[in-house]
Amino acid sequence: MTSRVKVLNFFHQHTTVNMRTSLAFVVAVNAVVGAAQVTSPPVYPSPNITGAGGWDGALEKAKAFLAELSADEKAGIVTGTPGPCVGNIAPISRLNFSGLCLQDGPLAIRQAVYASVFSAGLSAAASWDRSLNYDRGMLMAEEFRGKGSHIALGPVVGPLGRSPFGGRNWEGYSPDAYLSGVLVEETVLGMQSAGVQACTKHYIGNEQEVQRNPSRVNGTTVEAISSNIDDKTMHETYLWPFYNAVKAGTASIMCSYNRINESYGCQNSKTLNGLLKTELGFQGYVMSDWGATHSGVAAIQAGLDMDMPGGIGFISGDSSFFGGNITLAINNGSLPAERLDDMVLRVMTPYFFLEQDKGFPGIDKTTDGMGFFPQANYKHQFTLTPLVDVRDDHGKHIREMGAAGTVLLKNTNNTLPLKQPKNIGVFGNDAADLTQGQYTGVSVSNGLENGNYDIGTLPVGGGSGTGRFSYVVPPLDAIKAKASGSLVQYITDNFAIVNGGLRGIAPAPPDVCLVFLKTWAGEGDDRVSLLAEFNSTAVVESVTKICPNTVVVLHGAAPNTMPWKDNANVTAIIAAHMPGQETGNSIVDILWGDVNPSGKLPYTIANQASDYAKNLVNSTELRESTDPNAWQADFKEGNLIDYKEFDAEDKAVAYEFGFGLSYTTFELSDLKISASAKNLSRTPSSSAKILPGGNTELWDLVANVTATVKNSGAVSGATVPQLYLSLPSSEAGTGTPVRSLRGFDKINLAAGESATVNFPLMRRDLSFWDTGAQTWRLPAGAIGVDVGLSSRDLKLNGTITI
Ligand SMILES: *[C@@H]1O[C@H](CO)[C@@H](O)[C@H](O)[C@H]1NC(C)=O
Ligand SMILES: *[C@@H]1O[C@H](CO)[C@@H](O)[C@H](O)[C@H]1NC(C)=O
Ligand SMILES: *[C@@H]1O[C@H](CO)[C@@H](O)[C@H](O)[C@H]1NC(C)=O
Ligand SMILES: *[C@@H]1O[C@H](CO)[C@@H](O)[C@H](O)[C@H]1NC(C)=O
Ligand SMILES: *[C@@H]1O[C@H](CO)[C@@H](O)[C@H](O)[C@H]1NC(C)=O
Ligand SMILES: *[C@@H]1O[C@H](CO)[C@@H](O)[C@H](O)[C@H]1NC(C)=O
Ligand SMILES: *[C@@H]1O[C@H](CO)[C@@H](O)[C@H](O)[C@H]1NC(C)=O
Ligand SMILES: *[C@@H]1O[C@H](CO)[C@@H](O)[C@H](O)[C@H]1NC(C)=O
Ligand SMILES: *[C@@H]1O[C@H](CO)[C@@H](O)[C@H](O)[C@H]1NC(C)=O
Ligand SMILES: *[C@@H]1O[C@H](CO)[C@@H](O)[C@H](O)[C@H]1NC(C)=O
Ligand SMILES: *[C@@H]1O[C@H](CO)[C@@H](O)[C@H](O)[C@H]1NC(C)=O
Ligand SMILES: *[C@@H]1O[C@H](CO)[C@@H](O)[C@H](O)[C@H]1NC(C)=O
Repeated sequence: MTSRVKVLNFFHQHTTVNMRTSLAFVVAVNAVVGAAQVTSPPVYPSPNITGAGGWDGALEKAKAFLAELSADEKAGIVTGTPGPCVGNIAPISRLNFSGLCLQDGPLAIRQAVYASVFSAGLSAAASWDRSLNYDRGMLMAEEFRGKGSHIALGPVVGPLGRSPFGGRNWEGYSPDAYLSGVLVEETVLGMQSAGVQACTKHYIGNEQEVQRNPSRVNGTTVEAISSNIDDKTMHETYLWPFYNAVKAGTASIMCSYNRINESYGCQNSKTLNGLLKTELGFQGYVMSDWGATHSGVAAIQAGLDMDMPGGIGFISGDSSFFGGNITLAINNGSLPAERLDDMVLRVMTPYFFLEQDKGFPGIDKTTDGMGFFPQANYKHQFTLTPLVDVRDDHGKHIREMGAAGTVLLKNTNNTLPLKQPKNIGVFGNDAADLTQGQYTGVSVSNGLENGNYDIGTLPVGGGSGTGRFSYVVPPLDAIKAKASGSLVQYITDNFAIVNGGLRGIAPAPPDVCLVFLKTWAGEGDDRVSLLAEFNSTAVVESVTKICPNTVVVLHGAAPNTMPWKDNANVTAIIAAHMPGQETGNSIVDILWGDVNPSGKLPYTIANQASDYAKNLVNSTELRESTDPNAWQADFKEGNLIDYKEFDAEDKAVAYEFGFGLSYTTFELSDLKISASAKNLSRTPSSSAKILPGGNTELWDLVANVTATVKNSGAVSGATVPQLYLSLPSSEAGTGTPVRSLRGFDKINLAAGESATVNFPLMRRDLSFWDTGAQTWRLPAGAIGVDVGLSSRDLKLNGTITI
């Protein structure tokens, strides 16, 4: 039964829960408020952990542990408490349990000292490189482990990137669900191979920062934005990469701030009990985003397993919807004791599975005091150890990933790689060293922690997804080191460039002018423009006026629009993304050709911002509204985001999804398609096992596509052959994408060398979500197959009929 109920929850806060418990609490049913009339169907009870997928041994250990716990201790295992980490679960010394330390974030152990700052998810995505993504996960996790952190709060596949303006898109991978799915799977596997629990986030529909949390307007609570996502879009786009994360065994999932169909992400029984714990067979625990818990019993029944950071006042830690309220609720019969047992088992099973009970390092004492909680608030004693430097030689990997995630967009006159230029000009604020400290922990404009400083390079974005740099190699320093012997002249003050041109550069023009532009983005707000910042257009125009050989390098959030892209004096354009601490070395490797660029765009670059569907809900009127349900984001475009929207409307683009140049050339030939000989059922068997990742038959290999790729140029290099499928819309429904990525591989070839690229296709890859039957279904008709070097450079085609 589906009904929209306004529930006055057990703990006084007025909030919408998609449950029909205790009608005494219902104050309004199906009230007509807000722009949309949406509901989220109730799905109860919350499924128990079974240990499926190889966790049964660990589950037995968790059960033995559970048997030793008092009711208060059980509540403690699922409730954050103030401590040295961003999130803390209290130790129980009687049981030799030293507690759990949770730390941000997806590209570094955020606020730690003597730790590495890795490439952001955006760069990792642009590499399209499975093994580099695995390594990135593993090496980051080694650093978390080294500093005593059991749980790393990453990776990110929500936001997926519905809107190019999304403030946190760069923390994750790509608006393409398949690419994000493959890369999140590699990352989780890599992280957990190092014995650290991954927390894949933010679940789900957290596609904008504006109004992600409730606000107060004139004394009224206005609820967080509601992402209203239809069932088909949910499965085919937003839930898709979470399948991969769960299949890879992600220990936890973080539920998001926003509402889905008007029910909060951390108390939505359809998304938590239904999609995640039933359909996807998730065996781990759901933790709240920080402060995203809006109720106790209601959220717990809906599937929330852990409240973070534990305090109602966000960081106070002295009261929680969980904690003591859980024991009260069990005692008064409003919460079954078995549900709390399941929560504890879900939290403790990954701990035992990853053998975190066996000699896990203590918490680096420098973590304490720089973080989140005032020490005066601690209620428990945590085990601290002396400062440890966890960086090892990870800088090598970061340099490699930074270059691998760099995309060459334009290269006329073969201006790149550089050929021993004698006179090099370097321009733009992004070329310089940092000038306002090495930590952009929060994105709001508050003094030195404001990441959107003027002069200084932008190696990663801001907010909880950032990292504290122990060092940064700025582009200018790396260029000086590489070009020693040449003249390197530079102006890194954009104001001076815009107002004074290249005055002061002599002789002028330089042989090559390297212009470094940047685009800030961080948690807490969305982007207001797609242009690079700090008068970037005027900077490019000032330089090109004098310099006919100008190379523009963009760092930071993407995509950017590029009004100067067809300026004949702009001979090369590079989207260099967010490479991390080795940023200068990574770009020098590309500019001088020590690394042949092989990055591909994991998103579309439009000719102008208005070519994108805006997909960002925001206005002055909304901000002033006191309607609690004013903020509604209807995902009306369904699956048609990013390139799928441009293809559906046959719109021109500046640079398409999957595009990226190389210093060599590649050819594709010899497409071969082989489908399974078996007479496959249209849907996976309903009696097949549900393991983490869902019905196991979804992952059965049902077809292979192969092609030959040849390096037809003069230097060695890598490329990424891409497979796109076109499902028949007569069966898959209106809004079926013209093409969807369903395979890719990064192939390294010496000049003249050829290789076979193989695209194994699983049942899910060829299926669409059948909303009536509530299952994935293979179409009976022919499925179009295209193999190419981008989403619009399709070299080979054919069909598959399964
Ligand atoms: C229980 O929840 C209420 C809010 O509903 C809060 O005021 C109270 O402090 C909580 N109790 C504990 C023990 O955390
Ligand atoms: C949201 O509502 C849509 C349209 O009614 C429905 O298809 C979908 O399953 C709902 N999703 C959730 C999570 O409630
Ligand atoms: C979970 O297991 C308990 C026994 O430990 C049982 O009482 C309860 O019904 C189970 N819940 C579900 C949803 O299967
Ligand atoms: C909110 O208060 C401001 C002044 O305090 C007033 O101008 C505005 O009209 C009020 N808005 C609503 C929706 O009541
Ligand atoms: C049960 O305990 C919870 C948690 O303190 C409280 O909010 C709720 O009102 C209680 N319910 C009943 C029926 O006493
Ligand atoms: C307690 O845990 C440590 C590892 O953290 C282990 O070495 C030790 O043997 C354990 N002690 C007991 C009594 O289990
Ligand atoms: C640069 O842009 C800022 C706004 O970002 C503007 O205030 C300033 O006047 C511009 N400077 C120049 C020299 O164009
Ligand atoms: C390109 O550079 C030449 C100088 O070499 C200059 O005359 C011309 O105006 C420049 N074009 C633009 C669009 O800036
Ligand atoms: C680049 O090539 C164009 C046309 O091929 C030519 O007009 C221009 O002068 C060249 N620029 C440089 C810097 O060589
Ligand atoms: C949202 O709207 C407000 C009010 O119009 C504006 O000030 C703000 O810049 C907008 N933010 C974004 C990210 O569009
Ligand atoms: C696909 O290729 C693999 C070997 O790469 C083979 O084991 C498998 O049987 C093939 N499957 C189909 C459906 O062609
Ligand atoms: C396949 O490619 C050929 C040649 O490029 C083209 O004429 C044909 O329309 C394509 N077929 C499909 C189904 O896309």
